[in-house]
Amino acid sequence: MAALETRIVDPQAAANEQRLDLTLRPTSLGEFVGQQRVKDNLEIAMTAARQRSEPIEHVLLYGPPGLGKTTLAHIIAREMGVNIRITSGPALERGGDLAAILTNLGDRDILFIDEIHRLNKTIEEILYPAMEEYALDLVIGKGPSARTLRLDLPKITIVGATTKVSLLSGPLRDRFGNVFHLNFYHEGEIREILERSAKILAVDVEPAALTAIAGRARKTPRIANRLLKRVRDFAQVKASGRVTPDISQQALELLGVDGCGLDDIDRRILSTIIEKFNGGPVGLNTIAAATGEEMATIEDVYEPFLMQCGFLQRTGQGRLATPHAYEHLNIKPPKSQKKLL
Ligand SMILES: Nc1ncnc2c1ncn2[C@@H]1O[C@H](COP(=O)(O)OP(=O)(O)O)[C@@H](O)[C@H]1O
Ligand SMILES: [Mg+2]
Repeated sequence: MAALETRIVDPQAAANEQRLDLTLRPTSLGEFVGQQRVKDNLEIAMTAARQRSEPIEHVLLYGPPGLGKTTLAHIIAREMGVNIRITSGPALERGGDLAAILTNLGDRDILFIDEIHRLNKTIEEILYPAMEEYALDLVIGKGPSARTLRLDLPKITIVGATTKVSLLSGPLRDRFGNVFHLNFYHEGEIREILERSAKILAVDVEPAALTAIAGRARKTPRIANRLLKRVRDFAQVKASGRVTPDISQQALELLGVDGCGLDDIDRRILSTIIEKFNGGPVGLNTIAAATGEEMATIEDVYEPFLMQCGFLQRTGQGRLATPHAYEHLNIKPPKSQKKLL
């Protein structure tokens, strides 16, 4: 049910947000805020590759949605001065699809594979020689007379992105020379991103309002940009158009986003664990059934942030609401809960 509603703090891009993403997407490493270690390492890998006139080694980017994986893939292509072709794990169904893409790329071009953990086995096996030896093995014929024909491919770079690196097979993961984890952003970085976005979108916003929005953006650039846009709409309709701290406060309240950036569904997950299951531990499937949300959505979208904020713990026995969660929801923790923690 609620899973299909548009959620203001959903870190994944809504269908109508592609354009906003594009407008606000940084185009160089210099413009890309935060993730300093990733940037430093990428800079070195790119410079080294350029000096050797080689493609940059395959890059795997992993981390929660909305933190800049797709953006970085585009930046790498741009800084290397090469073309980028975009596809995704689920989009590559048949070996022929991948073979067609690979043979059409130019030397040093980038193939960006989003959701790379969702590649099927056949496709993965075509990728191995392509990544390792820039070769494509074609099987010709069937049965005993079948043989393999090896074709040379252009020297390309695969940039893979995933929110679930644990689902990647070992052999595939091992073929990436550069593996980078994107972390949630600090509030100051989110504020910097908001400042940049406000400039690009020509939003008239007071500095204190930017800070207020940054505090509720779940440490995620995509959410920060979305909140900024919604607050701007509110300011335009309900006031003079200028985003003041008071206006942003009202807009965020209307959107149901609380002081920590939690929305109704986050709060419902926490209050379900607390009120129906005595704070936990309780299994993910039970939480899903009790809240009417899908298990995968809870696990991929809600939990990472709830854990990051210290509201939720994953234990061997199930999910546990922390004292911090009780405090946030204004519920008194029972004595047994305190002992467990
Ligand atoms: N480090 C950053 N600096 C500035 N803006 C960013 C940064 N990371 C992400 N963004 C913004 O957030 C949006 C979502 O980023 P994206 O790369 O699509 O995330 P992901 O692919 O990890 O889901 C981008 O359009 C961009 O505007
Ligand atoms: Mg992406």
